[in-house]
Amino acid sequence: MRTTTLASTGLTPSAVVLGMMRIADKSDDEIRALVRAGIESGVNHIDHADIYGHVEHQCEERFATALNLTPSERDGLIIQSKCGINAAGNYFDFSAERIIGQVEGSLQALRTDRLDLLLLHRPDALVEPEEVARAFDTLEQQGKVRYFGVSNHTPGQIELLKTAVRQPLVVNQMQHSIAHASLVAAGLAPNMESLPQSVDRDNDTINYCRMANVTLQAWSPFQAGFFQGSFLGDYDRYGALNGVIDRLANSYGVAPVSIATAWILRHPASWQVVLGTTTPDRVRDACRGADITLTRPEWYELLKAAGYTIP
Ligand SMILES: NC(=O)c1ccc[n+]([C@@H]2O[C@H](COP(=O)([O-])OP(=O)(O)OC[C@H]3O[C@@H](n4cnc5c(N)ncnc54)[C@H](OP(=O)(O)O)[C@@H]3O)[C@@H](O)[C@H]2O)c1
Repeated sequence: MRTTTLASTGLTPSAVVLGMMRIADKSDDEIRALVRAGIESGVNHIDHADIYGHVEHQCEERFATALNLTPSERDGLIIQSKCGINAAGNYFDFSAERIIGQVEGSLQALRTDRLDLLLLHRPDALVEPEEVARAFDTLEQQGKVRYFGVSNHTPGQIELLKTAVRQPLVVNQMQHSIAHASLVAAGLAPNMESLPQSVDRDNDTINYCRMANVTLQAWSPFQAGFFQGSFLGDYDRYGALNGVIDRLANSYGVAPVSIATAWILRHPASWQVVLGTTTPDRVRDACRGADITLTRPEWYELLKAAGYTIP
């Protein structure tokens, strides 16, 4: 499995990350089989959030109970979690008290003494960078969090945090897939008034992250919209795209999900793909995709088949 480097951390995470958002109702055996499939395929990076599950910290707790990691197994994994969303109240909260409290809840649920990475999950419009800095300093000094990052943040929001936060922000986790590709598609068609794709929805996040050494993590890598189901195998809505994916899968001798993974990782920014599948075979197939390098014509053909314009 290909790895990437997280700037200024010394960590070498796998290109594929196992996301734990959908494990709440899975049995211990199913969770073990899922994580084992990832580890045997070279995955060393696990993505959690305090809000995953029916109640706070549920998926973190399910993971810890099912895996019951030995200290050396724990040391072999990069475990990241997120905070900053108050799901019950439907608002965002980057206060120091909330950030510190949620990390302590995550550590308890995960039965570990530290998070390798903590991400701020979604931007808080009421963010005060000094509050975030106070929380990060406290968590770092107490050894509870090693490295920090963000999720769903624009360049301006990251720069605002950096006015007070001392630690490098090494990750930005964003929604990205062939069928949800505005991160790359807008930049292909700047200033074209008649083309909706031309609207820059994220303030040029990819180029900012490349210049600022921020690794991008693609969440929902096989979803078309915002939790509207996978485009893989959906021939009604994504017939042309699935046609190209199936042809390439045949020619590379892999599964369609491998091609969808390879498409994200072909982009030369530092990328990781955060899987959400709970099916071990799909994990194995996605990991195979990390070792495929699509050609430039193949990459563009897939983007075009998803409905984007190549001007
Ligand atoms: N930062 C954020 O704001 C944010 C938001 C959402 C998610 N995340 C993270 O990103 C991870 C991935 O998100 P996601 O679960 O939405 O992503 P995903 O990997 O694109 O979607 C997985 C879902 O698609 C289903 N699926 C159907 N056909 C599939 C196929 N052929 N191949 C693979 N999956 C197929 C899976 O079903 P089966 O389980 O039955 O295989 C599963 O329900 C989450 O676990 C979480 O860690 C982050």
